Amino acid sequence: MQIEPFGLERWFADHEHEADVMLAESGVRALDASRFDTDPGRLDYVVPTNGDPALRAKVADRYGRAADEVLFTTGTQEANLLANLALLDDGGHAVVVTPTYQSLSSIPETLADVTRVPLEPPEWGLDPDAVAEAIRPETSVVILNNPNNPTGRYHPQETVEAIYDLAADAGAYLLCDEVYRLLADEPIDPVASMGRHGVSTTGLSKAWGLAGLRFGWLAGPPEVVQAAWSWKDYTTISPSIFGQHVARQALDREGEILRENRDLVADHRDRVAAFLSEYGLEWFEPVGPNGFVTVPDGFATGQSFCRRVVQEESVVLAPGGLFGRDQYFRIGFGLDSDDLTTGLQRLRTFLDRHR
Ligand SMILES: Cc1ncc(COP(=O)(O)O)c(C=O)c1O
Repeated sequence: MQIEPFGLERWFADHEHEADVMLAESGVRALDASRFDTDPGRLDYVVPTNGDPALRAKVADRYGRAADEVLFTTGTQEANLLANLALLDDGGHAVVVTPTYQSLSSIPETLADVTRVPLEPPEWGLDPDAVAEAIRPETSVVILNNPNNPTGRYHPQETVEAIYDLAADAGAYLLCDEVYRLLADEPIDPVASMGRHGVSTTGLSKAWGLAGLRFGWLAGPPEVVQAAWSWKDYTTISPSIFGQHVARQALDREGEILRENRDLVADHRDRVAAFLSEYGLEWFEPVGPNGFVTVPDGFATGQSFCRRVVQEESVVLAPGGLFGRDQYFRIGFGLDSDDLTTGLQRLRTFLDRHR
């Protein structure tokens, strides 16, 4: 078994530590630990190891499901890994909508035969007919990320329901990574609430600004959740007790935290949109803190552009080639407002110099 190196993480490893401004982080700036009680008591495993039953029941309510249809994980990343292991344990076939967060394509490609369904610019819309064409009799899962990273496109309820019906009719599951869902002004229903064939993954890293908690979950039908739990016995055993302790408080204060983070993202999105239009750069106005932007004239690819920006201005952007689209770069604008100001000032200096 061989897995592709995670291009974005390798790019960050090369540049993030040394650079002054990180304009490629995909989440919302982290909240301070001082806003929470951080003493969970004894530092034991979480028992039962799938997560505190009362908290799972609360999370499960969001999906119209029972506590045992939710598994707490170490971030959304683990939820996606476990979902793939559970759904593709016999190999088989998966349909993956791209461009997407790399783990949602590289993990299934390591385990199974994959057909990619491309979203096309400028709107990055999802065509149910293309998904229907890609589904085969042996397809066990269709994999979606909505709102999408890197494009920020949020597919509407009727499109996602159409994809759900296609998956269900084929006896497959629809797995949707919904980690940016609660940054939408009007979130659509999560996939795990759409029926027996829906599996949702998410976590507190992005919309809540709590990446350091490493707390997420998977919600779906019992057979999938059980199979994922069986794999979790070999990955992290239980969630972190710190993560779960703070997650409980964050979920209790969800309204306040999400309002704060949505306001920040909306304000920053407006600032970035104004900046891009000044320089004639295009994006599809994103939901969430990531935008996928056309590479400025004079640069062959997102890679050459982003490399020069980090070398000359110490600002990290993400080359679109890491998402299979080398005429784009991804900008992450969920960072602190002062850092956004500095980052855009430096980009301005760079673009003016290279006009
Ligand atoms: C779509 C998507 N899913 C999952 C993750 C990983 O999230 P977590 O920090 O919750 O593991 C990311 C991080 O960028 C992401 O963009």
